[in-house]
Amino acid sequence: MTTQQSLSVGIHDIAIATGHHVLELDDLAERLGVDPAKYHVGIGQDAFSVPAPDEDIVTMGAAAAKEVIDRHGVEGIRTVLFATESGVDQSKAAGVFVHGLLGLPKGVRVVELKQACYGGTAAVQLALGIVARAPHERVLVIAADVARYDVDTAAEPTQGAGAAAILVSADPDLIEIEPAAGVFTADVDDFWRPNDRSTALVDGRLSVSAYVDAFIGAWDDLAAQGGPAFGDIARFVHHQPFTKMAIKAHRKLTQHVGEPFDESELAIGFTYNKQTGNTYTASIWIGLAALLDLDDDLAGQRIAMFSYGSGSVGELMTGIVRPDHQQHRRVGRVQEVLGSRVRLTVDEYRALHAAGAATSEDVERPRVTAGPFRFAGVRGGARHYEAVAQD
Ligand code: CAA
Repeated sequence: MTTQQSLSVGIHDIAIATGHHVLELDDLAERLGVDPAKYHVGIGQDAFSVPAPDEDIVTMGAAAAKEVIDRHGVEGIRTVLFATESGVDQSKAAGVFVHGLLGLPKGVRVVELKQACYGGTAAVQLALGIVARAPHERVLVIAADVARYDVDTAAEPTQGAGAAAILVSADPDLIEIEPAAGVFTADVDDFWRPNDRSTALVDGRLSVSAYVDAFIGAWDDLAAQGGPAFGDIARFVHHQPFTKMAIKAHRKLTQHVGEPFDESELAIGFTYNKQTGNTYTASIWIGLAALLDLDDDLAGQRIAMFSYGSGSVGELMTGIVRPDHQQHRRVGRVQEVLGSRVRLTVDEYRALHAAGAATSEDVERPRVTAGPFRFAGVRGGARHYEAVAQD
């Protein structure tokens, strides 16, 4: 007990990856005859990533994880937790493909987690528990998703694709996670995806109120667990299906606790997600990466992280940012990841969308991605991945 209380456990590194292509929402607005301000201001998004035909959650997750492994090696990694809403197989964990692509040692357990967009946070909590019990171990958490809705629906502009790899360790470089967490579950049909669909079904308005309910519920539970006062939290970062959703929820929380609302405090955490679009399980971690990369006043400060997965589960965690976290900023790398995407026309994006449904039919995929790994196709009903030679 004494050992666990004094042990600092948290997030040691974060890397992000996204799809090869990007659709600018200005282009979608022009096609649909919508005022672009509805997207930029009304929902708070500028663009979304679109995977190439030879990309999916495995290739994006492996690309993000490779960065983490390149920086820290594999020593002590005995667990890989892969969280996703858009899994590629009903049985095999996506992380097993990643394990193979990265050449991880055989002495590793791998499992996949699911609860809509919340799964990555559940994985981080499991990882914290493993490291608290075995501090010499490190856990590789991967959160990756392709957010797909039907075209010509209200949800179309809120699609996206991306991955985050998070290394959880003792004595972390970035954030020490505090023990108390606020959790909330309510059975609600705001967003779901039946097994025979490759696009999600969503009641957009209900998802906003369900998210707000989960945020307030998780806050109240955190308070009941002895969590910090609102004034002792320097920054909040939220799951961001679209950034306006986080703004709406945060406004409600400030009303709930009787504090002034300052929307500008949230802006830095939106920087990357406005470009990737919704990345489901990865969204909160991409928001956190933006905050750590771009906010100059975080050292030694407490931040709160709110995760939400439709259906619904919410969790509010807090952590203390390490005093020297700025030595580990990755802003240049993220700009490269986002800036190197290839812009699509609306027709090109829609053609990719139409071809993007999962299949078990044998198929070879064309070489398109510039990432380190690609989905080569389906052979004998099984998915095949391969490394791509890098320049
Ligand atoms: N200028 C500025 N603002 C404008 C505007 C203009 N010209 N035109 C409209 N707006 C504003 C509207 O006033 C509105 O703002 P408020 O919400 O503050 O009132 C906003 O733009 C959106 O307008 P609408 O409500 O008319 O838009 P819509 O009907 O097209 O739907 C949406 C918007 C509900 C967000 C829809 O895109 C949607 O359903 N998206 C998916 C919802 C979603 O992602 N839910 C999250 C689920 S959680 C998750 O991530 C899933 C998971 O767990 C895996």
